Parts: sequence; C-alpha cells; structure tokens
Amino acid sequence: MSDKPHAVFDGIEEEDNRLPAWWLAILFITIVFGFGYWFVYHSTTLLETPNREFARLADEQKKKLALQDPISDASLQALAHDPHAVAEGQKVFTTICVACHKADGSGNVGPNLTDRYWIHGNKPTNLYQAVMTGFQDKGMPPWGPQLGPERTRDVTAFVISIQNTNVPNGKAPQGDLAE
Ligand code: HEC
Repeated sequence: MSDKPHAVFDGIEEEDNRLPAWWLAILFITIVFGFGYWFVYHSTTLLETPNREFARLADEQKKKLALQDPISDASLQALAHDPHAVAEGQKVFTTICVACHKADGSGNVGPNLTDRYWIHGNKPTNLYQAVMTGFQDKGMPPWGPQLGPERTRDVTAFVISIQNTNVPNGKAPQGDLAE
C-alpha cells in the first residue's frame, strides 16, 4: 500500500495517480479542436452545412427549371431582374463582348447597346437571337455555341439591364429608333 491518498472499497484500492501526459494531451487537443471546429462550422463558409447545401441545391434546381422555360420576351425580361443572372452576364460581357461593345456597352467596333437605336430590334428575344447567332458578315460572331444556353441567357439579361441607360459619349446611333 502506498502513502498516496486512496480509498478502499470491498478490498479494491483506488489509487490517485497523476494522469499520464499523453492522456491529458489528447484531452486538451480534443477541447481545442472542438472549439475550433465549432467556430469554423458556424462562422465561416469553409465547411458545407446542411443549410448551405439545401440553399445550393435549391439554387441549382431553380436554374434547371429556368433553363427549361422556352425563351420568350417575358422570361428574358424576368431574368434581367434577377441580380445573380445579370451579374453572371456582366462577367461574360466584360470578358468577351467588351472588345467590340466596350465594358459599359457604349459601343466601339460594335454598336452602342445603351442608346435607343437598334439595328436588329430591341425586344429581349431580338437581343437573345443577336447574341446566339450573331451577324457573321457584319463582324458579330455567333456566341451561342461557345457560351452555351445558360451564359447566353445571362449575358442577354445583362444587355437588357443596360438598355436605355444612354451612357454619355457613347458610339453614334446605328439602326432605328425603338419605341
Ligand atoms: C468582334 C466584335 C464583337 C464582339 C466580340 C461582340 N460583338 Fe456584338 N456586335 C458586333 C457588331 C459589328 C455588331 C453590329 C452587327 C450589324 O451591323 O448587323 C454587333 C451587334 C450586336 C447586337 C445587336 C445590336 C443592334 O443594334 O441590333 C447585340 C445585342 C450584340 N452585338 C451583343 C453582343 C454581346 C452580348 C456580345 C458578347 C457575348 C457581343 N455582342 C460581342 C461586334 C461584336
């Protein structure tokens, strides 16, 4: 029997040994990890939480359904009021269309897209068609095949959103005055 404080129950001795360092190390590491994980889970976007996953899936589903809609003036007009679609469209515009229409759409080689004059009509479906099939012989390539349906819609939504913004010092009007 040692002289450490201990208790005896039914002949079984309870020692009061120090916990081994490795055991304590695991305990403290677990506590620190627990707090760290809790913080990362709730306060950052590094991990996929059920809520985020549901939101992402709902978003994907919404997009899929939107792509199934037939292209119409109304569906494109609605998309032009969807900030996400317009933002995606702007990304396409400022990478591809910028070369000929300028980043703000005020025109360069290509016509000014912010004035009230249009060569091929100003209805949303006219714009969609213009982007989709282009006017090869006039220097506007067809973008549909390269962009795919979703980005073609998004960039059309962006063009609709800048219609009639009349950016100052834009390219001189081409085409007919639209109502
Ligand atoms: C290589 C230069 C070039 C690029 C790049 C280009 N365009 Fe064009 N775009 C033109 C030209 C030139 C016209 C005028 C065609 C004509 O005279 O019939 C035009 C016409 C248009 C029209 C019709 C304008 C009207 O008055 O009816 C739209 C809409 C349009 N472009 C959108 C886009 C979008 C969106 C992109 C990017 C995806 C894009 N363009 C990229 C050269 C370009």
